[in-house]
Amino acid sequence: MDKIIVHGGATLNGSVRISGSKNSALPILAATLLTKEPCIISRVPDLSDIHYMLTLLSELGCEVERASGTVTVKAEKILTEAPYDIVRKMRASVCILGPLLGREKKATVSLPGGCIIGDRPIDIHLKGFEALGAAVLVQAGNVKVLASELRGATINLRSKFGSTVLGTDNVMMAAVLAEGTTVIDGAAEEPEVVDLANFLIKMGAKIEGAGTRRIIIEGVKELHGAEHAVIPDRIEAGTFLIAAAISGKEVTLKRTDPAHLKSLTGPLIQAGLSITSRRDEITIRADGTRRPLELETMPYPGFPTDMQAQMCAMLATTAGISVITENVFPQRYMHVAELKRMGANIELQGSTAIINGVAKLSGAPVMASDLRASAALVLAGLQAEGTTEINRVYHIDRGYESIDEKLNSLGANIERVKV
Ligand code: EPU
Repeated sequence: MDKIIVHGGATLNGSVRISGSKNSALPILAATLLTKEPCIISRVPDLSDIHYMLTLLSELGCEVERASGTVTVKAEKILTEAPYDIVRKMRASVCILGPLLGREKKATVSLPGGCIIGDRPIDIHLKGFEALGAAVLVQAGNVKVLASELRGATINLRSKFGSTVLGTDNVMMAAVLAEGTTVIDGAAEEPEVVDLANFLIKMGAKIEGAGTRRIIIEGVKELHGAEHAVIPDRIEAGTFLIAAAISGKEVTLKRTDPAHLKSLTGPLIQAGLSITSRRDEITIRADGTRRPLELETMPYPGFPTDMQAQMCAMLATTAGISVITENVFPQRYMHVAELKRMGANIELQGSTAIINGVAKLSGAPVMASDLRASAALVLAGLQAEGTTEINRVYHIDRGYESIDEKLNSLGANIERVKV
């Protein structure tokens, strides 16, 4: 198990290339199950979650080839039961339910449990499958979906926490091969949902409205193989923007999409950072004092829950009182106790964090708990006095391609140690 040691105090400067999006690549890879023909997906990031998805596809009988960032999947003959051993490692495995149901009219997947960021039910995914005519059975820790045929329907996928990203993906992937028209109301508007829809359209699906709250799908008889390049990872890009805001002089992100990052660049500008964007680049300059912020996480186009922990790390050393409310995963605050061990002054009141900025954090041994919390600890370590030792970094490798090497290329001083 590796650990990361961050020597604080370095100044970041220069440019960094953003990788393909993890949360786009995962459902897109699952969507390759919808056709017998080969699909070629490029800009697939090299991450452990992607590795689990490729292993899962192989276990289901797909031929999978990977050459650096390009993955070819041929799902000619497939099984419809996903082994528990892989599913338990990655919650996003649930997004094979939709394509398997769409193509084979049946699927069995272990029910994902809760995870460190809270209780993560899939009731809305299942409600969507039922509306398309599937029977849902939860038995012995597995969820089984089964249909003699799938029929288009009007479905509202909103939960009390807002829209569901993988739920929208799953129902969309089942509906593309259903008989007739499906209308998804309360759909997630995230760029990753749009990316999946664009890939499905290349495969021959008829989809309108992806990126809005209403998606309309006209079922087709079958889909064919297609080629697709995954969109840039907006959360990786956002994490580098905050790294630069904390310890940067001037940092440019290359191969990113500024339009996907407005809900983050807006607050960063409000906090006093200078940001300029052109085509697929964003430059951030950190040359003054930062101002505190009041933010709440919301589904896209709101401020992303996946940036909340990293924003806490920045506001921990921003003079004044900042307030963050977490609406998407109200319990997603595992990083707070660790940031407090580094000297942050943060009080939790339910799903709200009240952050009283301190002048400096101090390095300490800390524990990574989930992906974004771990990234927040790296960011805290960059600005801390002394050395921060982050244990259990496998969490960070689930979602960031070589974060240590990329930050070091900007001037950070981070070591990765094999334990
Ligand atoms: N929800 C339900 N019932 C459902 C589905 C969701 O109540 O059937 C609730 C969830 O408990 C949560 C809210 O709805 O409170 C939103 O969850 P959503 O379904 O949108 O989350 P997800 O699709 O499982 C994806 C990302 C997460 C990201 C969330 C929110 C992937 C693989 N994962 O999860 O990414 O936080 O959307 O934007 O796309 C990460 O990358 O670190 C990560 C956790």
